[in-house]
Amino acid sequence: MPKITINDKELLVPSNITILEAARRNGIHIPTLCNHPKLTPSGGCRLCIVQVNGIPRPVASCTTPVTEGMVVTTSTTEIEGLRKLVLELIISDHPNDCMTCEATGNCALQELAYAYDVRGLEYPGERRIYQKRDGNPFIERDLEKCILCGKCVKVCDEVQGVEAIDVGYRGFKSKICTNYEEDLNCEFCGQCVAVCPTGALTPKQSAKKGRYQDIKKVETVCAYCGTGCNITAHVKDNEIIKITSRPDTWNEGWLCVKGRFGYKFVNSPDRLTKPLIRREVQFEEVTWDEAFAYAAGRLKAIRDKHGADAIGGLSSARCTNEENYAFQKFIRAGIGTNNVDHCARL
Ligand code: FES
Repeated sequence: MPKITINDKELLVPSNITILEAARRNGIHIPTLCNHPKLTPSGGCRLCIVQVNGIPRPVASCTTPVTEGMVVTTSTTEIEGLRKLVLELIISDHPNDCMTCEATGNCALQELAYAYDVRGLEYPGERRIYQKRDGNPFIERDLEKCILCGKCVKVCDEVQGVEAIDVGYRGFKSKICTNYEEDLNCEFCGQCVAVCPTGALTPKQSAKKGRYQDIKKVETVCAYCGTGCNITAHVKDNEIIKITSRPDTWNEGWLCVKGRFGYKFVNSPDRLTKPLIRREVQFEEVTWDEAFAYAAGRLKAIRDKHGADAIGGLSSARCTNEENYAFQKFIRAGIGTNNVDHCARL
């Protein structure tokens, strides 16, 4: 393990990591915009620059590997000045409509602008304006707020393996493009929304439903399949307005389209909240006691007349493991048949 020094602190670190990783593992903060711990580094934003003894210019800590004896300083007057300059340039070409932006309160660019006192007027000049909006059903793509960090492209490729987007054009005209610049047409897993450091990518379903500081976060488990991804429900006025997942969960913060965007059923007025029994062609609302007694009576009558194997039970991947266990126990031990299966195997 190489011995390195960061900010006068001697550290033993693994040989195959970058300066940024070494700093993070030892609780030393270096600002970043384009880096994500689960994605390969691109070295695009230059916020993570540090001074390394023996190298005449600052280097990007996210792409520079540690070497034996390396001496690193993460903050000097020159480094902080360069970081501020980078932010001033980015924000000079940014809408700066934080008052109405969906990402306000949860925006890495806003946080850094605050920390470095960047107000967005230092370099007035040409601005990127994109009139056309993407008509896809889930993800609002506001390219004027895009800082071209490339995290959305990398997560789509390296985590999801879909490659629905990439950087198109060059220089000032660079932008994140879909195939033939048509509306986004992908799996809509929303990993790109999860890693976006600004308000460039936001969920359409959550628009104007509530600001970040207004919501209550409720940790829970996705009920869509047996994978059991950990999710965070963003709740306002007793309504789920957004689903996210934390990077420190076992699913590493990644979700599928159902887990991330398929939550509207929870507050749907069409949801059944009382049991119904069908009499002839009409459904009739009944109490739970009546419903249980009716179901038990019918199952018993069928078993008595035709035998237990005349009955079969189908459970659901949307139930928990415990519910599925209880259900198969009921069919096997209660009814007396092994005719039990699960929707994921149909
Ligand atoms: Fe290193 Fe962006 S985080 S260049």
